[in-house]
Amino acid sequence: MIFYFSGTGNSKWVANQLASTLNDRLISIGECMKNCEFKFTLAPGERIGWVFPIHSWGPAPIVLEFISKMHLYEYSTQHYCYMVCSCGDDIGLSVEMWRKALGGIRGDAAFSIQMPNNYILLPGFDVDDGDSERAKLNSANKRIEDIALSVAKCRCCEEVVTGKYKWLKSKLVYPIYKKMAMSDKSFSCDTTKCTACGLCERECPVGNIKMQENRPVWSEKCEMCLSCIHRCPVRAIEYGNITRKKGRYHHK
Ligand SMILES: Cc1cc2nc3c(=O)[nH]c(=O)nc-3n(C[C@H](O)[C@H](O)[C@H](O)COP(=O)(O)O)c2cc1C
Repeated sequence: MIFYFSGTGNSKWVANQLASTLNDRLISIGECMKNCEFKFTLAPGERIGWVFPIHSWGPAPIVLEFISKMHLYEYSTQHYCYMVCSCGDDIGLSVEMWRKALGGIRGDAAFSIQMPNNYILLPGFDVDDGDSERAKLNSANKRIEDIALSVAKCRCCEEVVTGKYKWLKSKLVYPIYKKMAMSDKSFSCDTTKCTACGLCERECPVGNIKMQENRPVWSEKCEMCLSCIHRCPVRAIEYGNITRKKGRYHHK
């Protein structure tokens, strides 16, 4: 089984590729959280995969929350468990954080894969230019093939880009991000542009958006995945003023 979370589609695509190559079942963490579904039974020898985006040099917080709530019946150390995280650049100490969250489940392998960046909420951060986006997507195919091969062989390994200052980023910036920056209060919708298509509501992986009087309303349980802002076909959604001049990206 492969548990996945994704905002703008990168991790979902990675999870889909792995699931079809390895013939594994896919389970959406967002859907499980919405439906309070936390109990799963493993088949003999079944692999346990985790695919998710990196948010502020740690796993997207919903992933760690889900792991803390879930129960895997029939688990033994015979079951191979691995993570694949998608990131714009680097992942800090995310592997350590994932392993700690797993508790009694052994994290056998970890892989990171660079995908187009979707973080646009701070000055100096924007989506990749066209060339970098294409280059990342091109090399992602080969990277997934290699990862699938390692997983099929149940290799115990760590092939990740941790980046510089990993301790500072994951132990200091990540907790601050979780406490202070995970708020949907700054999202706004320009009603002169919005066509009330409802795509933002349908694509929100945690069901945090409801269309009311033909405009999206956010309900304060946002994962900051930025699906809504990147997918809006008419660029009606902004986050304060910071995103007005920023690019948009979602995996096609
Ligand atoms: C809130 C937020 C924080 C992010 N932080 C990081 C980061 O620390 N390091 C990094 O390399 N990419 C970071 N990114 C970029 C995403 O990890 C990357 O684009 C990922 O592939 C998005 O996956 P998704 O399309 O499945 O949501 C961040 C994105 C968001 C939305």
